Amino acid sequence: MLFRSNSKAQQRTEIDADNIPQHIAIIMDGNGRWAKKRALPRVAGHREGMKAIEKVVRRASDLGVKALTLYAFSTENWKRPKTEVEFIMKLPSQFLDTYLPGLIENNVTITTIGDFDSLPEFTKEAVIKAIDRTKDNDGLVLNLALNYGSRKEIIDAVKSISELVKDEKLDIHDINEELFDQHLYTHNLEDPDLLIRTSGEQRLSNYLLWQLAYAEFYFTDKYWPEFGEEALDEAIIEYQHRKRRFGGL
Ligand code: FPP
Repeated sequence: MLFRSNSKAQQRTEIDADNIPQHIAIIMDGNGRWAKKRALPRVAGHREGMKAIEKVVRRASDLGVKALTLYAFSTENWKRPKTEVEFIMKLPSQFLDTYLPGLIENNVTITTIGDFDSLPEFTKEAVIKAIDRTKDNDGLVLNLALNYGSRKEIIDAVKSISELVKDEKLDIHDINEELFDQHLYTHNLEDPDLLIRTSGEQRLSNYLLWQLAYAEFYFTDKYWPEFGEEALDEAIIEYQHRKRRFGGL
């Protein structure tokens, strides 16, 4: 089956429904520059970025994407001015106040990865409520990376595996990739097939370093607030023209 898309990307206008990336990871970059271009405060870019999230979730869900992992706040983002950090921390509750009913209607499940405990109480409360209210859904998993850092995730996995070895619950020879996977924050998810980064930057910024080992990378110059349904279609169409070899021929 083919999904018709309004995307005008290089005359490729159809999405193959049999080759939808099952898990898409996104680095939502360029909110600040989007705002600056319009002489607006940086936080206006983050607010607009929230609307882009809703559009992308809806389209991804319609296309049958199973999981979407969004980099909402990194362990390095605490270095930003306090007022900006406070603003970003309020976005999950604003997002969920506005969009949770629609997400529930669309059968979306909300999950998070990252150092959740160190988030402000009001952020945690909003997210916990959304996790709870969507836990019985079985549609798209909207996985929010909040206070997430991949190196910390890997170190946390090493620590929890080491504890098992120390307590003689695990033989060191039984440590393999599957076991390591099970100790990552993403243990319930398949690895992403596609990574999208907006705003023209081409780096991973400490995002899903283990999980992206075989993902296809897609970079666009669009700032995150400009990203929407058609931009997602373009990324998926580009993905569908890649040859994935996973190290084989
Ligand atoms: C990167 O743009 C964006 C962020 C660090 C924050 C992203 C957060 C959201 C879009 C909202 C999160 C909301 C929910 C619901 C989880 P930037 O500020 O680095 O942009 P710049 O590189 O142009 O300065």
